[in-house]
Amino acid sequence: MIQAAITGVGGYVPEDVITNEDIAKIVDTSDEWITSRVGIKERRVLKGEAKGVSVMAAEAVKQLLQKTNTKPEEVEILIFATSTPDFIFPSAAAMTCEACGIKNAFGFDVQAACAGFIFALETGSNFVRSGKYKKVIVVGGDKMTAITNYTDRTTCPLFGDGVGAVMLEPTEENVGVMDSILHVDGIGINHLHMRGGGSAHPASVETIEKQMHYVYQEGQVVFKHAVSKMADVSAEIMERNHLSKDDVAWFVPHQANLRIIDAAANRMGLSSDKVMVNIHKYGNTSAGTIPLCLWEWEDKLKKGDNIILAAFGAGFTWGSIYLKWAY
Ligand code: UT7
Repeated sequence: MIQAAITGVGGYVPEDVITNEDIAKIVDTSDEWITSRVGIKERRVLKGEAKGVSVMAAEAVKQLLQKTNTKPEEVEILIFATSTPDFIFPSAAAMTCEACGIKNAFGFDVQAACAGFIFALETGSNFVRSGKYKKVIVVGGDKMTAITNYTDRTTCPLFGDGVGAVMLEPTEENVGVMDSILHVDGIGINHLHMRGGGSAHPASVETIEKQMHYVYQEGQVVFKHAVSKMADVSAEIMERNHLSKDDVAWFVPHQANLRIIDAAANRMGLSSDKVMVNIHKYGNTSAGTIPLCLWEWEDKLKKGDNIILAAFGAGFTWGSIYLKWAY
């Protein structure tokens, strides 16, 4: 049986940092509030005229190609999970392929908000499992600062910019993407969205005046759903695969709020040393959080490690993936 294994990880976060103190100079908030309620200390921002998410993706993918010793021409598919593509079209996948010299691939964007990376990882894995494709890149990340309203204290401390990428290749060994449970239901549409700029509300003076080109979030409602859904689905994938807490080497949760991460880890019975957390440094990079954790922890991962990924995002979208690390 062909399994889809992650064979390398690349990542990129921009150099420029926005600290909680910086945020507190623009809106009525404090380092104490942001740290205790969310767990963020600072986040990165991609600066520069007309620089979109693909600028970061190109860095992450070039690093991935180098680390996996892959020539750009060898890549067969590039799937990019993002809610902040450079343009509505063409896709951020197209922009990234162009920037990296990937000429023999097809590719497309996946839009599943903060759960985008795990949706794209399952999608990419199925191309590999089909037996037809041998080098598939899955990218996840966002330039959230492009859609953040820096006059709204309830959302502007939360988000940052960053992109991660993984290579998927076939293996006959019993490692790789072992199982997934993924959901979308649409009940969250009114609670977390950006309504402006799509086909329902194309950009106009009115959409700008009504601030429709920014993230809108009803934090408490989203929080309640995120806590229960992420914990439920992570526990479910452990049960379904007969994994006890001792069998799990690492939990890689979406980084939206440290309290959501802690709730999910508690439900799984995991101690904090098994939980990847970098929210304090990067904030919520949406589809970037999970691949950026894998990128940062790559050195500590061992072949055969059981790893649970879990995410929750706008839609609502949510789910979990069980990985067995392949190298
Ligand atoms: O990533 C995709 C999915 N997104 C998520 O999973 C995010 C889920 N939601 C959350 O993480 C949290 O709801 C937030 C971090 C967004 C907000 O935290 P909270 O503990 O739910 O705060 P809250 O909205 O209940 O607000 C509590 C208080 C309010 O004041 P009153 O009404 O109690 O006087 C807010 O006005 O905190 C106030 N507040 C702030 N105070 C200082 C809200 N934002 C701020 C702020 N600084 N930045």
